[in-house]
Amino acid sequence: MLLIHPAIQTIAILIALYAFWMGSKRALAVHFHKKAVFPWKRHIWTGRIAFSLLLIGFFVGMAMVRIHWGNNLMTLGHGKMALVTLPFIVAGFIMGEMLARKSPHRDKLRVVHGLNNLLVLILLFNQARLGIEVYRLFVAGL
Ligand code: HEM
Ligand code: HEM
Repeated sequence: MLLIHPAIQTIAILIALYAFWMGSKRALAVHFHKKAVFPWKRHIWTGRIAFSLLLIGFFVGMAMVRIHWGNNLMTLGHGKMALVTLPFIVAGFIMGEMLARKSPHRDKLRVVHGLNNLLVLILLFNQARLGIEVYRLFVAGL
């Protein structure tokens, strides 16, 4: 059971990386006038899957810690950093949905969306690092 959360988040992070790779092609084309094909629809659906899985995984992680240890936010900063990461995931999701609906403010919005999601990726790598530590110390010995 305690492996469900790390499994969901690992898959989500890999899909987010793929979405970012596609997004960076868009950024190259728009901002640096390089020739690059942006798979618009694939970026949108992979982005949606990645962010939805991350949100589901967040609550699964919370639930598992609550069920097994009777409390929350006791995982060496991993839980607290998850609370820091969460609003950026939600913001990236909302901006992505606005861009997918061809928002009139797209010029500024896509830059903020791209930079926000770069930050999300960095925070996710940090979560993975902290999460592996949590697994090693609290779960592997059970
Ligand atoms: C709900 C999920 C998502 C939706 C609906 C979405 C939608 C979009 C759309 C429509 C664009 C093109 C904007 C334009 O050129 O006018 C875009 C650009 C981009 N997206 Fe996403 N996206 C989502 C998630 C993600 C994720 C998970 C990442 C990476 C972790 C990401 C990174 C980027 C980047 C880097 C760009 C290029 C920004 C730029 O040109 O400056 N997106 N997104
Ligand atoms: C590969 C990446 C990750 C690994 C290996 C990992 C590992 C873990 C482990 C072992 C736990 C203890 C409970 C359990 O096993 O179900 C946990 C809890 C948790 N994780 Fe992760 N995690 C990862 C990514 C993430 C991400 C990306 C988020 C947030 C977006 C997150 C949020 C949480 C939360 C909120 C808890 C509950 C913490 C608490 O109440 O103290 N994790 N994680």
